[in-house]
Amino acid sequence: MKNLNKNSKTPNHVAIIMDGNGRWAQARRRPRLFGHRAGAARIREILESCPKLGVKYLTVFAFSTENWKRTQAEVAGLMSLFEKYIRKEAANLKDNGVRVRFIGDRIRLEDKLVDLMDDLELMTQDNDLVHLTVAINYGGRDEVARATRRLARDVELKKLSAKDVNEETLPKYLDTHVLPDPDLVIRTSGEARISNFLLWQSAYSEYEFIDTLWPDFTSEVFAKVVASYSQRSRRFGGASV
Ligand code: FPP
Repeated sequence: MKNLNKNSKTPNHVAIIMDGNGRWAQARRRPRLFGHRAGAARIREILESCPKLGVKYLTVFAFSTENWKRTQAEVAGLMSLFEKYIRKEAANLKDNGVRVRFIGDRIRLEDKLVDLMDDLELMTQDNDLVHLTVAINYGGRDEVARATRRLARDVELKKLSAKDVNEETLPKYLDTHVLPDPDLVIRTSGEARISNFLLWQSAYSEYEFIDTLWPDFTSEVFAKVVASYSQRSRRFGGASV
């Protein structure tokens, strides 16, 4: 879907690569999961600050297709954290106008987690104050490959003609098909990489790489990053005026 607020000064959609949980925990001589738990708690604060900042869509990268390479204990800990988070936050999200969606390939996730994800999506489907999208087992290349597979099937079934495959039709097959493109992508912890996040969707996004570790990313820091976006001029390949 096209970005609806091209010329607005406020980012309508902010996407975040929440990096630095491990280092945050290490600095406190605690296990990595301690950092992930602190990171999970931050999401609520950032989400709650979205309406007053004018941010309608918030997308967070919780687990990448590459994160399976971590130790079995860390992967299991993160999966259990996602389940606990959904159980704990569901009522609060529903009551506070948050519409939740999940993107990524669900095929490798445990059934009980997928059921919780489905239930939360359903429970919050009428909300419209803020749209929270959580990327779990998500990779940009994997998403484009899965989208292309679905598109090719539609061509085989003659629902779509090859000549109609273009920049408008292909994104309809992406996990994000109902979302606007992100205006601003933030990565915390000082790393300047996009790590396979929203590759198609962020073609014209502004990027902000900031040194703060994710568990230290307060709503004050978020507000500053959003304010600095407002100073930028987005030209989408055109000339400045
Ligand atoms: C990156 O930090 C963070 C992750 C891979 C996991 C992100 C998960 C959360 C913030 C918590 C849970 C989320 C939800 C939706 C409940 P890292 O481990 O790579 O940190 P490091 O680079 O310092 O090692």
